[in-house]
Amino acid sequence: MTKFYIASDHGGFRLKNEIIEHLKEQDIEIEDLGCYTSESCDYPDYAHKLCYKVLETKSRGILVCGTGIGMSIAANRHIGIRASHCTDTFSARMTRLHNDSNVLCLGERITGAGLALDIVDIWIRTEFEGGRHLRRIEKI
Ligand code: RB5
Repeated sequence: MTKFYIASDHGGFRLKNEIIEHLKEQDIEIEDLGCYTSESCDYPDYAHKLCYKVLETKSRGILVCGTGIGMSIAANRHIGIRASHCTDTFSARMTRLHNDSNVLCLGERITGAGLALDIVDIWIRTEFEGGRHLRRIEKI
């Protein structure tokens, strides 16, 4: 399995650490791009840092903030990034199958850790379907 990147602001710091632990337990390679303390910081700094990495390495990444919304707004400003803010497992599966989502956004203050980890597992393991969906994402 390919390497993944993860980043958060202070609002997503705890959930980010839980996701890292969860993925490491499954031997999935994950690089933490910060933040590294729970001190207040600005989510766009981390969204941009992660998106540059994902674009440069053609990999995928996970962004966590309080709601998941700020991170998704910032990430989707990057051409080539298809960031999906997911609060349920159906969306996590469909956004991989149909949108080839390369960034998953989660909100620590919205989605409990148990559900968030299920969303991560599904999003990581689901492959893009291609075909007519490739034509559609090329039109974005
Ligand atoms: C930080 O308080 C909070 O605004 C941030 O984590 C995120 O929810 C922004 O969308």
